[in-house]
Amino acid sequence: MPHTLRSKIIGTGSYAPRKTLTNDDLAAIVETSDAWILSRTGIKERRVAVSDSSTGMAVKAAKAALKAAELSAKDIDLVIVGTVTPEMIFPSTACFVQSELGVRGGSAAFDVSAACSGFLFALDTADKYIRTGAAKKALVIGVDKFSRIVDWQDRSTCVLFGDGAGAAVLSASSGSRGLLASRVHSDGRGWEMLYAPGAVRPSRFEDGVRAEEPYIKMNGNETFKIAVRTMERAVTEAIESSGLTKGDVSLLVPHQANMRIIKAIKERMGLADEQVVMNLDRYGNTSAGSIPLALDEAVREGRVKDGDVIVFVAFGGGLTWASAVVRW
Ligand SMILES: CC(C)(COP(=O)(O)OP(=O)(O)OC[C@H]1O[C@@H](n2cnc3c(N)ncnc32)[C@H](O)[C@@H]1OP(=O)(O)O)[C@@H](O)C(=O)NCCC(=O)NCCS
Repeated sequence: MPHTLRSKIIGTGSYAPRKTLTNDDLAAIVETSDAWILSRTGIKERRVAVSDSSTGMAVKAAKAALKAAELSAKDIDLVIVGTVTPEMIFPSTACFVQSELGVRGGSAAFDVSAACSGFLFALDTADKYIRTGAAKKALVIGVDKFSRIVDWQDRSTCVLFGDGAGAAVLSASSGSRGLLASRVHSDGRGWEMLYAPGAVRPSRFEDGVRAEEPYIKMNGNETFKIAVRTMERAVTEAIESSGLTKGDVSLLVPHQANMRIIKAIKERMGLADEQVVMNLDRYGNTSAGSIPLALDEAVREGRVKDGDVIVFVAFGGGLTWASAVVRW
């Protein structure tokens, strides 16, 4: 009987810039306090890039993932990068990563844009290449450098984000381990909840169009409520489509936006503290970097064992949301 092809995660890696910005550091820039940030979000500090580019962070995370997978860049035939802070408008960050790592020229490399859901969208896409036989070994990366697009004068957003990257190597596998279910969704009707216009000037031909402030704009309160509801639904959807139940879940690796959002999902799923990966106290919200960074830390801390069932869930601008279930 033919075996079902699955994507197995055979290595993970991550990278965050060295420079740490504490809540007290932020209180010197905007009117805020450690107590406010900590109690509303759970964030104590975040990393900000001083000399790291999006490509540089992605490459460092990818190298660590390849090392963990005991593979070289030459073995990779697909590179997908989830990012909304690409190196340039074009070429894609994936093309830069492909060339810097030495992945074979001519292999497919492209970015996906899904904000904080970027890594899970990239994972979902790579999985489809692998299950159809179009790729055998894929490098899936989530990276964002939000320090470039936050308004450092807006205390309601600048305290939330940080820079970072994470990567996973997927291998086509015929066993029972690997990605069991993956679901991605978007609803553009909610775009104004959370967006960043970016530093693009209107062309000389556009009538009456003024350059907008490029920075992130967010309706935090509404986003919070929608994120909780949507992520709870997304987790249930992925678990049900994998044929498993909540009781089978070993570990939840959620997008790291807000401790209160994560706690609400944890309670809804009936999970214990040690079954939920949380590192936003040290990194803040690193957007597409968040899930693979949290996964890599959990793997390196020995929190992930062979056969464990891991659930991923993300929510972000777009609006976008996604969930996945992996048997490790
Ligand atoms: C941003 C967030 C932490 C704000 O928490 P909140 O409890 O909703 O707070 P509000 O936005 O209602 O603001 C409450 C008050 O705190 C103030 N405030 C906002 N940011 C502040 C800061 N950094 N320091 C101190 N006060 C702040 C506001 O001005 C407001 O004051 P007011 O009542 O006098 O108007 C929360 O809404 C959140 O996490 N939202 C989801 C964001 C998110 O996850 N986005 C990414 C999804 S991927």
